[in-house]
Amino acid sequence: MNAMIASTVTLQKVNTTTFNQHRVRVIAVLKACLLTQTTEPLVASKQPFKVQLKAGKRYSWCACGHSKKQPFCDGTHKMLANKIPPLRFVPDEDCTVWLCGCKHSGSAPYCDGTHKQDFIQKAELPTAPQS
Ligand code: FES
Repeated sequence: MNAMIASTVTLQKVNTTTFNQHRVRVIAVLKACLLTQTTEPLVASKQPFKVQLKAGKRYSWCACGHSKKQPFCDGTHKMLANKIPPLRFVPDEDCTVWLCGCKHSGSAPYCDGTHKQDFIQKAELPTAPQS
């Protein structure tokens, strides 16, 4: 009986230690995420994207500029810019449009020519991750 109690106590210590180590790692990851969150959109492109849209289909336009599936959202804002969610929209008819790539249009998700301004043309573009 004592051996059973001793092994239970040991098991609880191991589980507590593992839980605490895991908790420390989770807190470190959350801190890193919060410290790297951006509040301003990244210039994803200095030009708009010409896109064919389908009537009634739901689209999520990337507003943060971090998506690798431009001009659409790939969910990256959740890690890098959670204050800048995608703009969701549903076209009434099939159409071809110019969606903003600079992420600073006053008529988002559509291009309004803002990308021609100096602050966009001189902005650094994100680089593709090294593999
Ligand atoms: S690409 Fe953003 S306003 Fe034209």
